Amino acid sequence: MTAPTNVRAILLTGANGGIGRACAQTLTAKGFHVYAGVRTPAPELDAPGITQIALDVTDPGSVAAAAEYIDKSQDGHGLHAVINNAGVLVQGPVELVPIQEWHRQFEVNVHGPVRVIQAFLPLLRAGGGRIVNVSAASARAAFPFLGPIGASKSALESYSESLRVELAPWRIPVSIVQPGAMRTEIFAKSTAAAESARAQADPRTVKLYERQLVAFDTAAAGQRYAPPEVAAAAIVRAVAARRPKAVYIAGTDARLAVWLSRIPARLRDSVFQRALGLSGIEPAPAH
Ligand SMILES: NC(=O)c1ccc[n+]([C@@H]2O[C@H](COP(=O)([O-])OP(=O)(O)OC[C@H]3O[C@@H](n4cnc5c(N)ncnc54)[C@H](OP(=O)(O)O)[C@@H]3O)[C@@H](O)[C@H]2O)c1
Repeated sequence: MTAPTNVRAILLTGANGGIGRACAQTLTAKGFHVYAGVRTPAPELDAPGITQIALDVTDPGSVAAAAEYIDKSQDGHGLHAVINNAGVLVQGPVELVPIQEWHRQFEVNVHGPVRVIQAFLPLLRAGGGRIVNVSAASARAAFPFLGPIGASKSALESYSESLRVELAPWRIPVSIVQPGAMRTEIFAKSTAAAESARAQADPRTVKLYERQLVAFDTAAAGQRYAPPEVAAAAIVRAVAARRPKAVYIAGTDARLAVWLSRIPARLRDSVFQRALGLSGIEPAPAH
């Protein structure tokens, strides 16, 4: 389905995930047309105002085909926005996360949006559009045992800052959205991937982290999650604002991360150690 020419159209990646679905619903309710990037067809996105489009951000052919399809569908009108929302969460102690998991983290969360931005900038220039990159609170304050996701979102934020100035001559705004913890499927997928990675690691090294990981899991079980609509509302504000802000923060814990990012590093370390129950854990004997 093509967007009517008087309707502003948006590309949303990762549209079938928790935050993606909430964004698609809010955007269509506000009258936008959503090209919903999905890796597999999603019946829950069969709705007026949404065109599903095959899009794997790690596959250059898939990204190019999506850009070509939307360009033809838009018939020269371009896009109002690209929302880089697709993402994965890789977790675990830095020492234990296999290098191929680091690659997967960066392929999806860092190189994926670059691919999408490079392919869709002509449509954004044509449509007087903007870029909204979905980051995370962990880009500001790097949580222990969440090193890969934090590193990927810091990288995304860093090149988003470069882009904002590079694209200023075309008046293409670039916004970053930093959600805190939202109730979506991302955590279950991440835990499953971490368990399978850990099963392949040297059990003696895994044993070294056993007590810290039990403490971390206990703290994580008490984590409060906001509904994904909280993140979607911030993303939609960035899409709809006449003058979008550079950064949007979504959720109480994301605001806490802002505070954590501003305090001295040693104090931040001890806040994390206390909050995660890591203080006083004796190191396990080395093998
Ligand atoms: N939930 C949170 O607490 C939270 C907090 C801060 C930031 N975020 C960020 O918010 C964004 C959305 O996360 P979410 O919580 O909604 O997670 P989610 O429910 O797991 O959704 C992730 C989406 O990304 C898609 N995706 C994964 N790999 C992809 C690839 N190679 N190409 C295209 N799409 C791909 C998934 O598609 P498949 O279904 O095909 O895998 C899914 O649609 C992510 O960037 C995440 O880092 C989330």
